[in-house]
Amino acid sequence: MKHLKKLLFGFILLSFSSVAIAGEGMWLPLLLKALNENEMKTMGMKMSVEDVYSVNKSSLKDAIVHFGGFCTSEIISPDGLLLTNHHCGYGQIQSHSSVENNLLKNGFWAKTKSDELENPGLTATFIDRIDDVSKQVLAGINNKMTDKERQSAIDLNLEVVKKTYNLKDYQELVIRPFYNGNQYFAFTTTIYRDVRLVGTPPESIGKFGSDTDNWVWPRHTGDFSLFRIYAGPDNLPADYSEANVPYKPKHFLPISLDGVEEDDFTLIFGFPGRTNQYLPGVAVEQTMNVLNPAKIKIRDTALKIIDKYMRADESVRIQYASKFARVANYWKKWIGENQGLKSTDALGRKRKFEAEFTQNNKTKTGRTLLSDFTSYYKNIEEVALTRDYYSEIAIRNIELLNMQRYIRRLVSTYEENGETGYDQYKGRLAGFFDNFYKNYRADIDQEVFTALVKLYVEDVKPEYVPEGFNALSGVDSYKNLSKLIYQNTAFTNKESVEALMALPAAEAVAKIKMDPAYKLGVQWENLYNEKVARPYSSKKMRIDSLQRIYMQSIIETFPKQKFYPDANSTMRVTYGQVKGYQPRDAVSYTPVTYLDGVIEKYVPDDYEFDVNDKLLELYNNKDYGQYADTNGKVPVCFIGSNHTTGGNSGSPAIDAHGNLIGLNFDRVWEGTMSDINYDPSICRNIMVDARYILFIVDKYAGATHLIDEMKLVHPKRKKK
Ligand code: ARG
Ligand code: GLU
Repeated sequence: MKHLKKLLFGFILLSFSSVAIAGEGMWLPLLLKALNENEMKTMGMKMSVEDVYSVNKSSLKDAIVHFGGFCTSEIISPDGLLLTNHHCGYGQIQSHSSVENNLLKNGFWAKTKSDELENPGLTATFIDRIDDVSKQVLAGINNKMTDKERQSAIDLNLEVVKKTYNLKDYQELVIRPFYNGNQYFAFTTTIYRDVRLVGTPPESIGKFGSDTDNWVWPRHTGDFSLFRIYAGPDNLPADYSEANVPYKPKHFLPISLDGVEEDDFTLIFGFPGRTNQYLPGVAVEQTMNVLNPAKIKIRDTALKIIDKYMRADESVRIQYASKFARVANYWKKWIGENQGLKSTDALGRKRKFEAEFTQNNKTKTGRTLLSDFTSYYKNIEEVALTRDYYSEIAIRNIELLNMQRYIRRLVSTYEENGETGYDQYKGRLAGFFDNFYKNYRADIDQEVFTALVKLYVEDVKPEYVPEGFNALSGVDSYKNLSKLIYQNTAFTNKESVEALMALPAAEAVAKIKMDPAYKLGVQWENLYNEKVARPYSSKKMRIDSLQRIYMQSIIETFPKQKFYPDANSTMRVTYGQVKGYQPRDAVSYTPVTYLDGVIEKYVPDDYEFDVNDKLLELYNNKDYGQYADTNGKVPVCFIGSNHTTGGNSGSPAIDAHGNLIGLNFDRVWEGTMSDINYDPSICRNIMVDARYILFIVDKYAGATHLIDEMKLVHPKRKKK
């Protein structure tokens, strides 16, 4: 009954609280009743929150699945059919592709269940229940404890809490901190391990617009793919086996054929990764003015070089497409984020909030918190910046150094575990080498190396520059250094690496240790660990602990307001409405795009905007089946005011009644600062319209057997 008291308390809170900004917040499903139900109903929800989340009866949450631990997916048939984004299933689709059988290019549709493709390592995780375990986890914790003491007391408590759960052998318990460590919630999960690929459109649909359209509205991407969860005969998780059967879900989402209109209620259910809504202004300022610009500049430099080669050579384009997309994704996001932080005056808002906080918080800690933050952030800036330089340059963008790290692990394995360990790890590396060198061009990488090492030496303090770089200045010296390394290392091509691997372990290790790329890697990383990583982590620990106190003080200082916890890859509900927006003066976006827009963007044979014949034919014949809107056009994407982030890819967009209306896959560029400063006027999430998905599955692919599995409904018609 503790719970009931809490809920009642929540209601009282709510009745006093000012109306929250529609759309903002990633809420815990078990607290919807206490915190959100009224607002959700005001915004148009017709279900009860028990229909959304319940542990006693089947609810929407039973159809929501963490896909591979990095994306969201949902069950859309009684036979465990799973819907997620094309870009979430990309790795699996790619792994089944070859030149002769290119699923990325041609798409894939399993004709029968026996044609569905196995994906080793891919998991599908259900949340069975969520419990507030804050009291138990924080038992005996007090403010006098040092961070270390606090952590070890918490670790002990966590063990105790875990023992109170009688988990079935197929269940796992995940306990996570919320509100920067002020609360703890436990998630009981069931993880399925046999998840097969059922269908995917070709890239020209699933990735239409590629990088140019990424983070952009108006959007015309059919970013979806279909999988199926298989279970043992008892419907429980099982390793892949031909004897496994389609999973029978507790709930699956019916799909609405009625589509959306502006202001319709939308609910997004999923696993958002990470947000930072409660940072102090100094931190936002540092992100905006110091860290983001540095990361943007580094990626900009690398991308320009890769782009030049990709444009000149079709085979390079194919080799580097996926890498380029990965680097470009957050490069573009940070540019948008910075712009949005400026245009919404995030700093001004933070300062105003902090002034209010200081005025209302009369405690001793409250008075010093913000000035402590200022000095802590000033104090971490240099190592934080250098850390970003190192990770963007030495880890993310110079491929040779990436390869070098794998080979180095081989050396350390040899030193720790002798030849047996060495042989085992070497065996695992073989496949990795194939993949790496298939998509590697040493000349491109060398040019990236030259440019990025130059940035590093010029931009970070000399004490963080490895000895080998010390003498560098002037463009030629960087070129000469990279030439020296790239010409003499064995790691730039598969043949020389394989020749190394063919040697007896001791001999190979001795040779590797003399390799210039190896030597540079070791030297740079050791310096980094000692002078950057270590001080960074102790400074960051202090900041984290201050942030925990700040978060708690915010909650205590404004008792009438509701605060949602930052995203942490746990299950959340966010809700909003279908809404257009005005990104700039005199520019106004409507919320729905149509197939007509795909045709407008069509550039024959372009690698981003090509449209294939079958889709053109359907368009020309207006062969839309039951999937056109009332205006006779096939909808493709729509936007809404739901607060989402990375990890929400593949999340279902659900209507007021609990039916699927869309599939979340992106945000609009002007609103990507929502991770730090959500603004209801320009933050929009982008979803594929469910009818476009059905249209592609049915009319384009002819996979009518999949449509037959689903439950298509007309909620709006029924209402009238
Ligand atoms: N921007 C989306 C997300 O953050 C989609 C990324 C995949 N698409 C791409 N063109 N890179 O993940
Ligand atoms: N594309 C993102 C993902 O992969 C979702 C977009 C976002 O960051 O909101 O999760």
